[in-house]
Amino acid sequence: MRKRYLLAMGLLAMGLACSGCSKSSGQLDGGIIRIAYNQALTHPHYQALERAGERFKEATGGRYEFLIYPNEVLGDQRATLELIQNGAIQMAIVNNAMVENYNKDFSILGLPYIFDSQEHQKEVFTSGILEPLFESTKEEGFEVMAAYTAGSRNVYTGKPIETPKDLDGMKMRVMESPTMVAMMKYMGGVGTPMSQGEVYTAIQQGVLDGGENNEITYVDLKHYEVAPVFSKTQHVMIPDLVIAESAYLERMKPEDRELLTQILEDSVEDEFNLWNEQIETAKESAREHGVTFVDVDIKPFQENCKKLHEEATSGSVFGKELYNGIRALAR
Ligand code: GCU
Repeated sequence: MRKRYLLAMGLLAMGLACSGCSKSSGQLDGGIIRIAYNQALTHPHYQALERAGERFKEATGGRYEFLIYPNEVLGDQRATLELIQNGAIQMAIVNNAMVENYNKDFSILGLPYIFDSQEHQKEVFTSGILEPLFESTKEEGFEVMAAYTAGSRNVYTGKPIETPKDLDGMKMRVMESPTMVAMMKYMGGVGTPMSQGEVYTAIQQGVLDGGENNEITYVDLKHYEVAPVFSKTQHVMIPDLVIAESAYLERMKPEDRELLTQILEDSVEDEFNLWNEQIETAKESAREHGVTFVDVDIKPFQENCKKLHEEATSGSVFGKELYNGIRALAR
């Protein structure tokens, strides 16, 4: 992994030397938009973004192009967010949990059981109510262009997890944010924050008892080899966010920026469709690899996590409004 990372950084440096760093001033008339991504080329996020890139290229007569670096070659999500802030790359897909570390109000979007269904989530992502939140990180050097679904997350370990008690004392990997750690505490386990690429080995070596994720990532990263029991807690539908460097967007001609914004907004629907096409295949593949799926009564988990809803909305008027706005869109 380290070798791949260094190689990619070398390539990136060469690319920047050729095309000029995006931190330099002056209006842009086109260019290569470098994008970091931590998963495979086959993943719905990658595919939706790739298609968006093709549309943008066509719409700008070939002046702009997307260049997506997959599989964490530019580092984990935390590192790639910093690459955007430094202007070394222009875009990335990172999980909402990463962005929560820059503006706590993002935690609302990643609350356990805040979405009732995929339809509800799609309504929230496409309704425009997230715009003020998405612009709120401009001062940090980046902004959110779109939210993609990543299904719902479930816990996996070596035994069935049917009640919060079953997670007692179990070290479960969570994404790196305070809300994810708190979520696991309310679910009954011990949340251990870690980046995605380290999880397999940590479970294998017994540093962790398990993890939590959606079926696609669980299968893509072969986590079933080290944690073959997948319990359907469906505890969080936390989105992935397409983020872009604000300084770069400002240097684009307004009409190009609008095109990019529109195309990325349109890609949300596309990504939901791709997700639904791939999710069954992932489950099927898990079964073929011997995974045991466990049905779970989610009510006790939901009940325990309510406290986190109160905590997340208590300190912020904006957060409370956002929370109410999201819930109002539930059918
Ligand atoms: C999901 C999500 C990723 C995230 C990963 C993780 O796959 O789509 O953005 O990195 O979970 O658990 O780290």
